[in-house]
Amino acid sequence: MNALVTGCAGFIGSHLAESLLEDGIHVVGVDCFNANYGRKEKLRNLERARELGDFEFVPIDLSRGDLSDVVADCDVIFHLAAEPGVRDSWGKRFESYLRNNILATQSLLEALRPWPEKRLVYASSSSIYGDAECLPTPEDVIPEPISPYGMTKLAGEHLCELYRANYGMESVRLRYFTVYGPRQRPDMAFHRFCQAAIAGAPIEVFGDGTQTRDFTFVSDIVAATRAASAADDVSGEVFNVGGGSRIAVNHALAQIGELAGRELDVRYLGHRSGDVNDTGADTTRARAKLGFVPMVSFEDGLRAQFDWVTATAQT
Ligand code: NAD
Ligand code: UGA
Repeated sequence: MNALVTGCAGFIGSHLAESLLEDGIHVVGVDCFNANYGRKEKLRNLERARELGDFEFVPIDLSRGDLSDVVADCDVIFHLAAEPGVRDSWGKRFESYLRNNILATQSLLEALRPWPEKRLVYASSSSIYGDAECLPTPEDVIPEPISPYGMTKLAGEHLCELYRANYGMESVRLRYFTVYGPRQRPDMAFHRFCQAAIAGAPIEVFGDGTQTRDFTFVSDIVAATRAASAADDVSGEVFNVGGGSRIAVNHALAQIGELAGRELDVRYLGHRSGDVNDTGADTTRARAKLGFVPMVSFEDGLRAQFDWVTATAQT
């Protein structure tokens, strides 16, 4: 089997590529090293995939490049490339969200039109729900994103579905809930909190820290993503992928303080536009149709990320 992983130099894409390679699957990885964080970090994310062997890296921008050759030889497509991040999606930066989340998805779908049987797994986001009235949130509530980022991820979902409806193209959409673990993006909470805790620097919390997230460890995300590529009778479906519990930011900080063995210097700043108060995934559907069960406890997952931040700080 040949798999295409878009966004393979990113946090989640690099873990997914490694998991596929470890099972002997040939992986074509696409990434354009967009500017959301350093090329150096993204190259480091790719190191293990390159060591694992059957990995071919194609450095193209999905929104601009010719994708026909890339998709021709692949049996399954994991579309993770995107401009991520909720709070930075306002103002001038919105252009990058439009290009990398909407135009790039449309270009990939156009390239796939001659092969409707090739399944595309689309990485969507809990941010499409906005401040959901119902927690945990099932997939069939009406999405009401409150950030420009969430709006573009929802548009990507709609594109997958309308290409399926018009051209019979296989696709499955997954709504990931705040993902954490080794290689987490440097703009995300736990990466910033662990770094600051280790350095003894101030930690900035947006709001009062009582906001909650259904934090999901990256290996659980990879397992669900791979299951979505192989499950029968799921084309056209959308699934929540969440870690299984809602954790407050303040609770996570208390645990990071324990891991660091010091009292943290926490500064509470204002709420950021686009941030939702709470997320919670109703994963009934993913359990039933993908056999998805989150395996990594919050304590173990946070320790794994803390250890990774510690190790990378020393290199
Ligand atoms: P990331 O920024 O680490 O990885 C995304 C990668 O895509 C980057 O390496 C980037 O260079 C690449 N990319 C962006 N635009 C591209 C383009 N036009 N052509 C080629 N490559 C391009 O982000 P991540 O956190 O790993 O997120 C991966 C996916 O999961 C995204 O689609 C994101 O929206 C989704 N998601 C992430 C989370 C999370 O908590 N990290 C939660 C929900 C959904
Ligand atoms: C994350 C990802 O960044 C998005 O790409 C993704 O789509 C989204 O999850 C999702 O689930 O759909 P977010 O929940 O904001 O978004 O993830 P974090 O950056 O880890 O933030 C978690 C919480 O910590 C938020 O309430 C945020 O405001 C807060 N935070 C973050 C801080 O208080 N301080 C920081 O320095 C960073």
